[in-house]
Amino acid sequence: MTQETQSADAPPKRLFIKTYGCQMNVYDSERMADALAPHGYAPTAAIEEADLVVLNTCHIREKASEKVFSELGRLAEMRAAGRDFMIGVAGCVAQAEGEEIARRSRAVDLVFGPQSYHRLPALVARAARGETVVETEFPPEDKFAHLPAPAPQVIRSRGLTAFLTVQEGCDKFCAFCVVPYTRGAETSRPVAQVLDEARALVAAGVRELTLLGQNVNAYHGHDAAGRPVGLGELCARLAELEGLARIRYTTSHPSDMSDALIAAHRDNPKLMPYLHLPVQSGSDAVLKAMNRRHSRAHYLRLIDRIRAARPDIALSGDFIVGFPGETDEDFEQTLSIVRDVGYASAFTFKYSIRPGTPGAAMADQVPEAVKTERLHRLQELVTAQTRGFARACVGRTLDVLLDKPGRLPGQLGGRSPYLQAVHLEAPASLIGTVQPVLIVAAGNNSIEGKIVTHAEPNPASLLESPERAAPTRRLEERPRT
Ligand code: SAH
Ligand code: SF4
Ligand code: F3S
Repeated sequence: MTQETQSADAPPKRLFIKTYGCQMNVYDSERMADALAPHGYAPTAAIEEADLVVLNTCHIREKASEKVFSELGRLAEMRAAGRDFMIGVAGCVAQAEGEEIARRSRAVDLVFGPQSYHRLPALVARAARGETVVETEFPPEDKFAHLPAPAPQVIRSRGLTAFLTVQEGCDKFCAFCVVPYTRGAETSRPVAQVLDEARALVAAGVRELTLLGQNVNAYHGHDAAGRPVGLGELCARLAELEGLARIRYTTSHPSDMSDALIAAHRDNPKLMPYLHLPVQSGSDAVLKAMNRRHSRAHYLRLIDRIRAARPDIALSGDFIVGFPGETDEDFEQTLSIVRDVGYASAFTFKYSIRPGTPGAAMADQVPEAVKTERLHRLQELVTAQTRGFARACVGRTLDVLLDKPGRLPGQLGGRSPYLQAVHLEAPASLIGTVQPVLIVAAGNNSIEGKIVTHAEPNPASLLESPERAAPTRRLEERPRT
């Protein structure tokens, strides 16, 4: 890259990034900030003082991508009112719509897709010279090898939990989904690259890593000897990092849930007992039309095997209602698979037509009113399950990673192994430690607890205790809804 870095005495320029969509976009926004930091850009939370505003966009549903254009309208008004700043559009809408964005909103200076983030300083320099930059090609070089690592103080400012992309793209082509088009073909980062990034995060104080990928369980990196390494083994290598307390990963596809990864949930005490494993529908006819490559029976068998390996695992899922051709009977099958599995959390969506995907061209689109009614019924069921799961935790002692100050003085906030937000009274000196917490109450979005006993932080207390992480009550025993 021929980009000069900014001299030390120049005043910093301000970067404001607004992030939409999934966790990978959150990670990517941080990496964009890392790419621009050596060029004099410091992050700001105040859009009014920004020299560069980047919208990191999501294309997954119509509403998500339309938000971008209303935000661009607002930014154009700020510019018309005399504020001088550059506007960039990144992420999946940028990748999908490219030049169309610059045509629809004249205020946009640069449009660039997720594979170009390492080139951002050069793109900004071109835009500063007056060019409207559109960069949506998939470049040949590995962006991760070119993105600069954040400084330890920057990592610390981002908190004690961190995302780390290990896999990107998707080859599954579900009939409703834009991701294979916006994120490209499935690729995995080399093991050494992942470990280096993880080591730097942990050395700066990160206690929990969430490994990211659109199909993260299809991860197939290579080690230095060129040997293939799957996600289960990658988690084992990461678990060797002293100081790292917890490992999570998201999102997984049922077809890629290997025996080795299931075994890792039994054998790796740092791998948290929480799994987001979307099924989308409970009807075989709909799963086939969606090109999901798995049946209802395959999914249920898989869940049994995962629970046999890790009985207390909390399951989470995504569901789409109103996919073309979905009948009342098909929808009943979705309700029944939710009852059969029993989810700790679930995300429910009305099918949204995405131009260019096979679903958009299908006959038998489901009327909006029917989708709305089905969504309400499904939401009622999953909300009851989520509450049931939280209530079943009351009276149990869970290991909680205390990662931030709480809402009130004297309180801290943390996460249970099952990814629930936990609030409790505890001294600030315990931030960064994992403590046994007796759960005393369950609310709608969080649970409350009391520290059982605590040791002042020392390296041993920072590690999850395998006994405590072991199941104290099987999920199947919680109230059925
Ligand atoms: N890679 C993940 C999902 C990524 S998108 C996986 O395979 O599970 C996150 C969720 O958005 C999907 O699981 C799906 O439930 C939902 N989604 C994707 N496309 C959609 C569409 N066109 N309409 C409604 N929901 C959609
Ligand atoms: Fe989209 Fe996930 Fe299907 Fe890939 S596997 S096409 S990301 S829903
Ligand atoms: Fe959205 Fe792209 Fe993520 S479409 S969900 S930002 S991969």
